[in-house]
Amino acid sequence: MSSQGDESAEQTSSSVEAPTSAEADPTSGGLITVTIGATVPTGFEHTAAEEVKEKIGVDARISKDRGRIYFPITTDKLSQVHLLCSVDNLFVVVEEYDHYQFKESKEETLNELQELASKLPWTNALEVWRLNRTLKKRKGHRKGGNATRAKSNAESSDVAAAAEGAEGAQPELPQETSPADSGTQAEITADSEMCQQDSQETAAEAKVMKFRVTCNRAGDRHSFSSNEAARDFGGAVQEFFQWKADMTKFDIEVLLNIHNEEVVIGIALTEESLHRRNISHFGPTTLRSTLCYGMLRLCKPQASDVILDPMCGTGAIPLEGAIEFSESFYIAGDNNDMAVNRTVNNICHIQKRRADKGSPSGLPIDTVQWDLSNLPVRTSSVDIIITDMPFGKRMGSRKKNWDLYPSCLREMARVCRPGSGKAVLLTQDKKCFAKAVSRMGGLWRKLHTVWVNVGGLHAGVYLLKRTAAVFGQTPEDVYESRGKGDTQTNERDDKGLD
Ligand SMILES: C[S@@+](CC[C@H](N)C(=O)[O-])C[C@H]1O[C@@H](n2cnc3c(N)ncnc32)[C@H](O)[C@@H]1O
Repeated sequence: MSSQGDESAEQTSSSVEAPTSAEADPTSGGLITVTIGATVPTGFEHTAAEEVKEKIGVDARISKDRGRIYFPITTDKLSQVHLLCSVDNLFVVVEEYDHYQFKESKEETLNELQELASKLPWTNALEVWRLNRTLKKRKGHRKGGNATRAKSNAESSDVAAAAEGAEGAQPELPQETSPADSGTQAEITADSEMCQQDSQETAAEAKVMKFRVTCNRAGDRHSFSSNEAARDFGGAVQEFFQWKADMTKFDIEVLLNIHNEEVVIGIALTEESLHRRNISHFGPTTLRSTLCYGMLRLCKPQASDVILDPMCGTGAIPLEGAIEFSESFYIAGDNNDMAVNRTVNNICHIQKRRADKGSPSGLPIDTVQWDLSNLPVRTSSVDIIITDMPFGKRMGSRKKNWDLYPSCLREMARVCRPGSGKAVLLTQDKKCFAKAVSRMGGLWRKLHTVWVNVGGLHAGVYLLKRTAAVFGQTPEDVYESRGKGDTQTNERDDKGLD
């Protein structure tokens, strides 16, 4: 990491050139090492770092700016980076400054940002951007070259871009197989066609490259706005490379991330967040797959575990589980028929995608319509319950939560195995949740809380352990049993004791 005024950064600047068709193919040269930056769900930075270590074998650094991690890779690992399940957006770092000394006045600061554009060591980052684009196109071509993106109303990222742009029109990134998996004749033909297309596009690119600069700024001691920084730095980038600015149809997106005195300049490697990877049928509160993945890792699914999402909505959590932790079995339920339909559609969509690729299409997941307060499930038969509860804002109401949460926790305690069962529950209604847990007569013990940001709301992911206490013996359970009718509850308990 450099500090401001680092001479090595200034020295490399003289050799920086805009990419042209004459530039060497980065895949044919030696490997280069770069730093990759990734935005991840806030609160799950350590989970993401763990995944990077596991899958890429390198240590990730967690940024002071929440929701970001950085890790080094050699270019042969680039396709693996796109298979990480905890990352939302990826970029390659051009340069980073831990303690950028911003000038006092706005004018001086903006002037300095302009000067910076021509001093940055762009070459390696641009090579990685080019290689990344080749990987994406290959993958897109195999899919038929017209992969479309589902527009969603999923929770948006907590990072605000200074300049808004429409989504690019490039195909999706590799999600389940890497380009290294290729080998069939059809694919070889596709690749040679791709090369032709590549060279045509490279020629076009040599004519004019379109770009935009996006500034993400956090901190209250800056004399400038993110718009001003993006505008002035962008102007200097344009002049330096002779690129054309285009806010919507850009080939390349330069990122200027400023968090207090930390400044990172990068080039985006994803046009849209990777969190949309599984969902084609969105609902009003669809959870990001990246957050689902973090929640799943928290409960450490084991082979043959029975895992329930009793309020599954679009099925984002159990679907992520069935794909990434496929040795467990998932049951996705909801009381709303539209939600159940969406889950079924999402499962079918993934199965079809797999079948099209020639992969086994079956997923260890089933769907059911039910009411969580009265599950058609045997007592003590479930290993893990993982769900995203209605916050009482976009879904349900705060008032209803005072009845819903205790009855959910009680029914979850009934079906969950005493002594070993776990629950991972997401809610923003922290007060109601804490009260409901405290009134569960010791059936649940809180082990850990991860604070997350869900669409701008500060929420908690609670890891609970089912204690060894027997269900139905606390005053609260007895009271609840009376309310529901003793016969029904006793029948279920008897079945569980078989
Ligand atoms: C926050 S949403 C879940 C969103 C889901 N994680 C997703 O990604 O789409 C909560 C869900 O709980 C369901 N729900 C509310 N009360 C319920 C109940 N008593 N039994 C079952 N589901 C219920 C709602 O229909 C809603 O789909």
